[in-house]
Amino acid sequence: MTPPAAGRRPVKIAPSVLPVDFARLGEECQALEKAGVDLVHWDVMDGVFVPNLTFGPDVIASTRSLVDLEFEAHLMVVEPDRLVDRYVEAGCSTVLVHAEACDHLHRTLGHIAELGATPGVALNPHTPVSVVRHVRDLLGVLLVMTVNPGFGGQAYIPLEDKVAEAADLLAGTDCSIEVDGGIGPSTVAAVVAAGADRLVSGSALFRDPEGLEHAVADLRARAEAAQA
Ligand code: DX5
Ligand code: ZN
Repeated sequence: MTPPAAGRRPVKIAPSVLPVDFARLGEECQALEKAGVDLVHWDVMDGVFVPNLTFGPDVIASTRSLVDLEFEAHLMVVEPDRLVDRYVEAGCSTVLVHAEACDHLHRTLGHIAELGATPGVALNPHTPVSVVRHVRDLLGVLLVMTVNPGFGGQAYIPLEDKVAEAADLLAGTDCSIEVDGGIGPSTVAAVVAAGADRLVSGSALFRDPEGLEHAVADLRARAEAAQA
């Protein structure tokens, strides 16, 4: 492992489990742990905020005891206040809500912290970083979406300038900068150079012909080289 450059957080690889075989979800989580990922990124979709429907809290809870990995819930849902407690109880230690879905973001983030979880905010590609300016001190993770949420396998939207803006805003805080969507060997260096340290990857990890372990190690190596 290459140590991060001064002032940079260690790279974390956060696989999205959207591409896995849902009939073998538990085994897939174990394979991810064996492949050396740092946490599991659960893409929770309600069919309203995004036109897709995925994991309820009980589905995530059913895998919790199978791995030691941290779980983060990316809540692509309307009115997330209704669901946050359920995903923390299911075993997610980081909960990311979309700024676009929250009428009272400051209160929601405070509630996530009160539950003992790490509060995070996800921003759709069009949403400016400035929306989190007044809650920056409540954030543990800021997720810059590099696709329009709802599906895996989409083309990366070049938003390095937005990632850099997020890094400027959050300089001096403990907040990780996460990117999500189209992250793989050909896009990871640009987003890490811009300031990202927490990398969600779905299809790129699972389509590596040399297997998951190689995909994870390769993505990490490319990211660490871009931090140097
Ligand atoms: C999209 C999800 C992403 C997506 C990433 O709504 O938030 O996590 O699954 O998948 P890839 O890496 O294939 O773009
Ligand atoms: Zn996601």
